[in-house]
Amino acid sequence: MASIVGAVNVTHVPYIGRAIANKLQQDPYWKPFFDGFPPVRDWLAKASPDVAVVIYNDHGLNFFLDKQPTFAVGAAPEYRNADEGWGIPTLPPYRGDPDLSWHLIESLVGEEFDLVTCQEMVVDHAFTLPLELLWPDRHPCPVRTVPVCINTVQHPLPTAARCFKLGQAIGRAVESWDADARVVVIGTGGLSHQLDGQRAGFINKKFDLLFLEKLIADPLWVTRYSILDLVELTGTQGVELLNWLAARGALLGEVQKVHANYHIPISNTASGLLAMEGI
Ligand code: DHB
Ligand code: FE
Repeated sequence: MASIVGAVNVTHVPYIGRAIANKLQQDPYWKPFFDGFPPVRDWLAKASPDVAVVIYNDHGLNFFLDKQPTFAVGAAPEYRNADEGWGIPTLPPYRGDPDLSWHLIESLVGEEFDLVTCQEMVVDHAFTLPLELLWPDRHPCPVRTVPVCINTVQHPLPTAARCFKLGQAIGRAVESWDADARVVVIGTGGLSHQLDGQRAGFINKKFDLLFLEKLIADPLWVTRYSILDLVELTGTQGVELLNWLAARGALLGEVQKVHANYHIPISNTASGLLAMEGI
């Protein structure tokens, strides 16, 4: 049976793609952000996953506001990146894992999650940049991938409790996958940020640090907040932390921190990194 080696949650911001392309890792603005990654890369090298289930939100590249699934799972042999209009380089395609995709889809639908199944799918910065950060300069990416999208963009959004349960169902599905494979779960986005409106630039360090702590020891803590509470506490795009919560749910039991980093700001965003593994 397959096993889950752990989960890594990573901020996604298009500006990071520009920094990688321009090799700005040692630049004073970028250094505190990029310096967070080597310990997680070392851990990944030891954990040696074959496949990554990447839980993220699409930003209008694959789904637009006219058609917005609450949850969608990719089931394609490969996932192409495309020009998103941020001036960031388009990256080579990512290998899929249709066998795991279909097993996940069967299991999740069996557990009453109503999904959109995507046999063709393009992937945006929220999928590509975390993989670039975790496996820099590795083309093709050394792991096969399964994209899972959560709608954090167009209201109504799924509740925190629902996203946590989705993650748990993903964890159970992976553990029942009849394959000799090691799987890492990656959640992307967050932490607090707001790109639009009167509160543009809003960041809530106090909440983010508490969230980083609670995600390890008491992830259900965040389910006390409604989506509107989370928008108020973390910003309109800060609700991307739902992806982190789902990734944590996939670890099922108790977990320990492998490594964390928090740095303000990257572009308009409080950047966070949290790797964890089951105890
Ligand atoms: C930024 C953050 C995001 O989450 C995103 O998807 C796009 C841009 C930003 O801070 O610039
Ligand atoms: Fe985003």
